[in-house]
Amino acid sequence: MTQAIQIEGLTKTYGDFIAVDSLSLNISRNSFVGFLGPNGAGKSTTIKMLTNLTVATSGKAFLNGIDVVKDPKTALSEVGAVVETPEFYPYLTPDKSLEYIAKLRGMKKDDIVVRTKEVLDLVKMSHEHDMKIGKFSKGMKQRVAIAQALMFDPSIIILDEPTSGLDPRGMVEVREILLDLKKRDLTIFMSSHLLNEVQGLCDSVAMMNHGKLLLNKSIDDLKKELEYTRIQVDTIKHIDEAARSHLSENPCVGGVEVSAANQIIIEFKGGPEDRNDLLRRIDSELKVTSFFEHGNPLEEMYMGLIKESR
Ligand SMILES: Nc1ncnc2c1ncn2[C@@H]1O[C@H](COP(=O)(O)OP(=O)(O)OP(=O)(O)O)[C@@H](O)[C@H]1O
Ligand SMILES: [Mg+2]
Repeated sequence: MTQAIQIEGLTKTYGDFIAVDSLSLNISRNSFVGFLGPNGAGKSTTIKMLTNLTVATSGKAFLNGIDVVKDPKTALSEVGAVVETPEFYPYLTPDKSLEYIAKLRGMKKDDIVVRTKEVLDLVKMSHEHDMKIGKFSKGMKQRVAIAQALMFDPSIIILDEPTSGLDPRGMVEVREILLDLKKRDLTIFMSSHLLNEVQGLCDSVAMMNHGKLLLNKSIDDLKKELEYTRIQVDTIKHIDEAARSHLSENPCVGGVEVSAANQIIIEFKGGPEDRNDLLRRIDSELKVTSFFEHGNPLEEMYMGLIKESR
């Protein structure tokens, strides 16, 4: 089966500057992928290439198997996108706004009425359907923009930082809508610079910085890594395979990596009592000289990534 989104060596340069550097990424149907990266990573540029708002310098992108550059109209016919803060005519209502774009697409009048109601319900804006958008908060406008993206029953939704610039309540409202959409037959590709947002919503995460893909894995795998603290233990006695496998039998211990003859990195999950118990066991077996938290590799990597880009 073809992928919903297929990106092959996609590159965008501005003069000498490489904004997106040979990016390759596959997104399978009905998955919800978070596209994570700090400011300037290249997320919006990638999304703009996918939605034909900007032309790639080289590389290819396919939506439902159709080449975006060669045949943008067909490729984007099943795509709903919210890229950049959407602008609406302030004197129009959500109803009129949706009617306007639907007429441009040649949708029949009766269908417009039915679909408008459906999508405004979906984004919890049915009460405000005939209020002027000019009076709406940023979060309300964002919800109308999502309604607009859903209007033509897309199979793929592409969102560029949908909660950016919203207050905490606005963020929660948009996230609730996204969780609703997740239950449907939809592929969602959403950029964000918030690790916790991506973790809470998505099935998998693609992380980029400086135009390059750094990581692409499922949230389940990511959670497994985040759930454990890594503890570095240095010992007097040598750590042999028997000692290593004995340690990994402890229910609070995930992986055990022997990083040197007298050093192990343990993935640990548990409370202070469990931690003390673990320390005493290793001490009695191997004689501990130091025992300290090694940090969380993923958080560290992401924070390092943000620091770098400042
Ligand atoms: N039209 C342009 N001309 C020149 N440089 C550009 C242009 N558009 C983007 N860039 C540069 O490309 C890089 C990637 O920008 P992009 O907007 O894709 O990042 P982003 O990951 O979306 O960041 P943010 O989180 O701030 O939205 C940035 O360094 C940006 O300055
Ligand atoms: Mg951006």
